[in-house]
Amino acid sequence: LEAVQMLAQQIGIDAGSARTLVVTGRREVQEVPSVVALHRKTRAVVAVGEKASEMVGKEPDHLVAIHPIRAGSVADLDGALALFRFFLRRTARSRLLRPRVLLGVPGAATQMQVRALTDLAFEAGASEIHLLDETVAAALGAHLPVGSPQGTLLVNVGAGRSTVSVISLGSPVVTALTDAAGYMMDDAIARHIRQEHNLMVGERSAERVKIDLGAVETIPVTGRNLATGLPLRISLRGAEIESALEETFARLELTVRRVLEQTPPELMADIAVSGMTLVGGGALTRGLAERLGQATGLAVRLAPDPVRAAALGMRRLMQEGSALAPVRKVQR
Ligand SMILES: Nc1ncnc2c1ncn2[C@@H]1O[C@H](COP(=O)(O)OP(=O)(O)OP(=O)(O)O)[C@@H](O)[C@H]1O
Ligand SMILES: [Mg+2]
Repeated sequence: LEAVQMLAQQIGIDAGSARTLVVTGRREVQEVPSVVALHRKTRAVVAVGEKASEMVGKEPDHLVAIHPIRAGSVADLDGALALFRFFLRRTARSRLLRPRVLLGVPGAATQMQVRALTDLAFEAGASEIHLLDETVAAALGAHLPVGSPQGTLLVNVGAGRSTVSVISLGSPVVTALTDAAGYMMDDAIARHIRQEHNLMVGERSAERVKIDLGAVETIPVTGRNLATGLPLRISLRGAEIESALEETFARLELTVRRVLEQTPPELMADIAVSGMTLVGGGALTRGLAERLGQATGLAVRLAPDPVRAAALGMRRLMQEGSALAPVRKVQR
């Protein structure tokens, strides 16, 4: 049986708060919203992924649509298990062979957080699990010199958290985690609109404003007029949204500074030359790259495919072998 199991394919999972990327050695990277809709009372799974995502904020009383993974840890057991089952089933080549799983985890995650994730992956059907640091995965995906003694500064701005690492010889040397990321920006935007325009908007509308900020100068948004209780559409100026994001940017900047302060001088000298690379969906936020560059004096570059960088790095590892970066096998 063991020999047969060796034929099982390996799949890479970058389980994010907002979306999860699943990759096999050959096929395209699959993107699935990390959302599960559950029956409120029985907790029976009603929808997973795209379908569940469309329900967020629109659920009738008996349903609840949740993000079961928050900032790299399991926030809802039933939901997270349903998600993992969905990923494994979706990529499975055969019903008989249980896939081997490569899982990206943040370097600064606690052992308990990691254990919660791996327990679920085993329960969902993984036959074997290997862990890879998620910033190392993203750096591999961005084709940075991960395995060399050359220091690499990587900033991953996700939805629930951001990770900042200095990587050398395949592993993070210094790493830090902060909740200054996409959700915090959405909250700040919703708060700004409520306070300055007396308009209540949902989290999806706030996120839309943040994303549109990158493309247009005035951004329309619809919500509930808090004075009349009726729907109202207004136009926001890009500049006011940027100022609403200031606090999140400042916290991210602080995290980058903290990592730099702990970076050994030789690696610091490398980074002074190579600068920093941004990955993750939040890295696309207008003004963030410039802000981090001004604050640190370093060159900042956005990875070519910032959202999928970690998944692409996992695929490289599966194709080119684990000599690229160390992976850690998890005992059942
Ligand atoms: N064009 C864009 N501009 C600004 N923000 C964006 C853009 N596209 C996506 N985002 C934001 O990126 C975040 C999702 O990024 P990503 O997929 O890297 O996070 P995640 O891996 O799901 O979360 P985490 O790593 O925190 O667990 C969301 O907050 C989303 O709003
Ligand atoms: Mg992520």
